[in-house]
Amino acid sequence: MNYALIGGTGVEKLVLKKTKQHRVDTPYGNVSLDIGEIGMSEVVFLKRHGTGHTYPPHRINYRANIWALKTMGVKKILATGAVGSIVDELTIGDIVLVDQFLDFTKNRPLTFYEGGDRGVLHIDVTEPYCPVLRNNITEGAVRAGIKVKNGGVYVCTEGPRFETPAEIKMFRLLGGHLVGMTGVPEVVLARELGMCYATIALVTNQAAGINHEPLTHAEVIASMNLLSNTVAALVESTCKLMDLDQRCYCATGNKETGLF
Ligand code: HPA
Repeated sequence: MNYALIGGTGVEKLVLKKTKQHRVDTPYGNVSLDIGEIGMSEVVFLKRHGTGHTYPPHRINYRANIWALKTMGVKKILATGAVGSIVDELTIGDIVLVDQFLDFTKNRPLTFYEGGDRGVLHIDVTEPYCPVLRNNITEGAVRAGIKVKNGGVYVCTEGPRFETPAEIKMFRLLGGHLVGMTGVPEVVLARELGMCYATIALVTNQAAGINHEPLTHAEVIASMNLLSNTVAALVESTCKLMDLDQRCYCATGNKETGLF
């Protein structure tokens, strides 16, 4: 089991062939996964918000989810996420492979390493999103005829509320391009367990205050529905490349603890 797809808002319905359900017990709780086929390979599919969008961003059990994927033997995680655009250059329907994040979350468990027996780990996140996996997705996009932008700064907010226009203005001044609620700590936890991780950010709306209309979740879902076939094709094309080695830093970033 090499690849996992973490489906965010609106990608829950993405269909894999020959799906079977699987439950994994983790030290943080149980996780339900779907296992299916893409091309010749088995892929794990995890609904980030649970079945039927049950968990809001700040209540998602990120540690259980990432631990479960590690238990399944996953090496590479493709994570989709709905985002609002902070900048003029990115508009609804754009697909971005982000390469940096700004963390504005407030109240989420951030690490597997809480001291005690497991110790303390100061994981390196100079390149939080695996550059090799991002290149693979870019290659997958070219083969599938899909336009993606490689690079962008993802701002993660705590949610579940949308942002104020003043916050969006601040994020723009700080260098942010996109804003979402679920990318952190997911990306960090994947690195802590030695898995490659890339976010496929799907622009569903202009961020708060940009077009002076109130934001709605329905608008986000509607944009995602328009993008879902494209995302499915992108994921399929990327997984079919079957680039299974980890020739990057991701697998060894946690070697100081010697645990995984
Ligand atoms: N802000 C935060 N999260 C989001 C947005 C947004 O504008 N759009 C989709 N997810």
